[in-house]
Amino acid sequence: MKGLRKGVVLLTILVVIIINVLSTECRNPVLHRVGGGRFSWNPKSNLTDWSIHEQFYVGDWLYFGFDKRIYNVLEVNEMSYENC
Ligand SMILES: *[C@@H]1O[C@H](CO)[C@@H](O)[C@H](O)[C@H]1NC(C)=O
Repeated sequence: MKGLRKGVVLLTILVVIIINVLSTECRNPVLHRVGGGRFSWNPKSNLTDWSIHEQFYVGDWLYFGFDKRIYNVLEVNEMSYENC
């Protein structure tokens, strides 16, 4: 009886370890649409509120989707950024 109980405890620990390994190490990369929707990377989005409900892991993708009819993206150097 004691041996059986020990076996059950060991098996339970093993299952918990396997589930942890499967759910973290072998997780497929996830695409996160920044802001939550297709064009939701914009000044109106509350990104703090959005990020609270997201879990990020190494290897995940971040998609910055914006409506190019309304917004644009410029690459600037540090000086241009400071003077902006
Ligand atoms: C954005 O969301 C956070 C967390 O829910 C909240 O504390 C904050 O007040 C919100 N900001 C705006 C501008 O609504």
